[in-house]
Amino acid sequence: MPKKYDIAVIPGDGTGPEVVAEGIKVLDTVALKHDFKLTYTKYNLGGDNYLATGEILSDQTKKDLLKADAILLGAIGHPDVKPGILEKGILLNLRFEFDQYINLRPVKLYKGVATPLKDKKPEDIDFLVVRENTEGLYAGAGGFLKKGTLDEVAVQESINTRKGVERCIRYAFEICRKRDKAKRLTLCGKTNVLTFAFDLWERTFNEVAKEYPDIKTDYAHVDAICMWMVKNPEWFDVIVTDNMFGDIITDLAAMIQGGMGIAAGGNINPDSVSMFEPIGGSAPKYTGKQVINPIAAIMAGQLMLETLGEQKAADDIERSVIKVLRDDILDVAAGKMGFTTSQVGDLVAGYI
Ligand code: IPM
Ligand code: MN
Repeated sequence: MPKKYDIAVIPGDGTGPEVVAEGIKVLDTVALKHDFKLTYTKYNLGGDNYLATGEILSDQTKKDLLKADAILLGAIGHPDVKPGILEKGILLNLRFEFDQYINLRPVKLYKGVATPLKDKKPEDIDFLVVRENTEGLYAGAGGFLKKGTLDEVAVQESINTRKGVERCIRYAFEICRKRDKAKRLTLCGKTNVLTFAFDLWERTFNEVAKEYPDIKTDYAHVDAICMWMVKNPEWFDVIVTDNMFGDIITDLAAMIQGGMGIAAGGNINPDSVSMFEPIGGSAPKYTGKQVINPIAAIMAGQLMLETLGEQKAADDIERSVIKVLRDDILDVAAGKMGFTTSQVGDLVAGYI
């Protein structure tokens, strides 16, 4: 009996459905070759659904999603919905409720892709960011006092638990070992100012490090990381950091690898359901135009297969993407590819 995976698909808003369709095209092709089966259940979540029905994410939908082997997400965000509602109501809600405590973002410059960094080559840009995904400033701790008055106070606290920090750091050490490259793990923090939160992070990091004598450890403040990522990206192998810093540095990282058309991420709970997404937004103005690059969504599928344990199939997708980027696509930016969204999906599937 071939292995079977039930994939929950949330195409979402804007260009989400177009790019997810290409991700699925590629997944189906590679599944056929490697003799496993993928079935898809589509969930109509996002801005259009919210405006039409008032539903953001029901308890029943969450229960159903939890039965899947993995979730593939297109994009969430709608021009007619106030910022924050869909992000908090769907994306962050799922990350928190499903305890997807790792946000994994591979950063790799492929041949044929232009980086804004002068003189940097594919061999210089190849690292992973492991971002804590359920705590920190994202935990929603805080509130207002005397809201709307001249005496207003707004407090937003960063929550860092020993358990949350430790499991994230352990994941980073493990993946650094498994990756088997420079075997260097860098903690990104701000120990000179955030002397409580990053004291906990640093102590935990140093303690866990003792169990990984084969991994070299390193520390850099987040502002310095931004500097080095531009000047010397080749210094990084795996970076581990908290939720907010991870959010910020991975946008910078996405740009040096060629932009949002390429960048994918995984919201991972190693013991439960994980969710994979192209990290770009819903790009409303391009909706239905078939100009968006689906490679990020295809690579989200690749990361999904890797996490499900289908490494050979995941490698096949990456190899095909490498070929398409090197030999076919003119430019990774929307509208400049020389192909439609769907044609890029065909190219990747064709090489598989
Ligand atoms: C990301 C996004 C989200 C985040 C937003 C949409 C809530 O920027 O996945 O990085 O801040 O985590
Ligand atoms: Mn972000």
